[in-house]
Amino acid sequence: MDKINFDFKNRTAVVTGGAQGFGLDIAKRFLESGGKVIIWDIDPKMIEKAIQELNNPNLSSGVVDVSNYREVEENVNDITKKSNIDILINNAGITGPTAPLWEYDIDMWKKVVDINLMGTFNCCRAIVPNMIQNNYGRIVNVASVAGKDGNANASAYSVGKAGAIGLTKSLGKELADKNIAVNAVTPAGAKTRILDQMSKEHVQRMLSKVPRGRFLEVEEFTSLICWLSSEENTFSTAAVFDISGGRSTY
Ligand SMILES: NC(=O)c1ccc[n+]([C@@H]2O[C@H](COP(=O)([O-])OP(=O)(O)OC[C@H]3O[C@@H](n4cnc5c(N)ncnc54)[C@H](O)[C@@H]3O)[C@@H](O)[C@H]2O)c1
Repeated sequence: MDKINFDFKNRTAVVTGGAQGFGLDIAKRFLESGGKVIIWDIDPKMIEKAIQELNNPNLSSGVVDVSNYREVEENVNDITKKSNIDILINNAGITGPTAPLWEYDIDMWKKVVDINLMGTFNCCRAIVPNMIQNNYGRIVNVASVAGKDGNANASAYSVGKAGAIGLTKSLGKELADKNIAVNAVTPAGAKTRILDQMSKEHVQRMLSKVPRGRFLEVEEFTSLICWLSSEENTFSTAAVFDISGGRSTY
């Protein structure tokens, strides 16, 4: 299938968790479409690998823990000295262990919410002022069907993603009088490294709920992200876009 061309010329995007999985594919497609991309990731080795793989002068990177506001802010200040940030993809995330709430390790619970929810807040908090100044912005928050349905044995992840959906709705309305769109996406399972963090039974249970009967392909996900991040998305904001193969039909 031929890919639709999106125009990201003269656009700069920050993609968090961009060193692998969904984030890496998004970075690749933005670059192919003429954009400049900065990937932020907590894993320096994977960043190095991504830079070698994509091999593009319009790609730069930062070792950033999105759950650390100061780190996020410092990196934003460095970038905005040279360029505006037009696009923010809040994609960094972890699932945490598979366990019932009453057995869940308390520090891990906090960590999962810190990365999935506070990370999204931190990046929006630091980058939105630049978008307001520039009167342009496209933000996509990568949530999950877990944030809509609530997955058993994944309470921290479900809460973090539900929080990111609530944040999207609030922030989208706060910015609706400007040329800034804030949307969330709710993918079902795709075969990236993140699945290794969950038990095989949990992954099988997730898949059994998908009417399409298969995993989401990374490229299918990127395609939705591209439209939401493009200048062509002039109206949709504060919305949740489902990409779950028919699992979450609301
Ligand atoms: N793959 C799926 O089945 C699936 C389904 C629904 C939602 N999602 C969401 O999609 C997003 C991307 O996941 P993926 O499947 O590509 O996973 P992945 O594990 O392949 O990639 C996630 C990236 O985030 C980075 N990261 C983790 N913690 C970070 C932090 N504190 N700061 C910065 N970077 C950090 C990791 O190093 C990694 O490179 C996540 O938010 C995930 O919850 C994935």
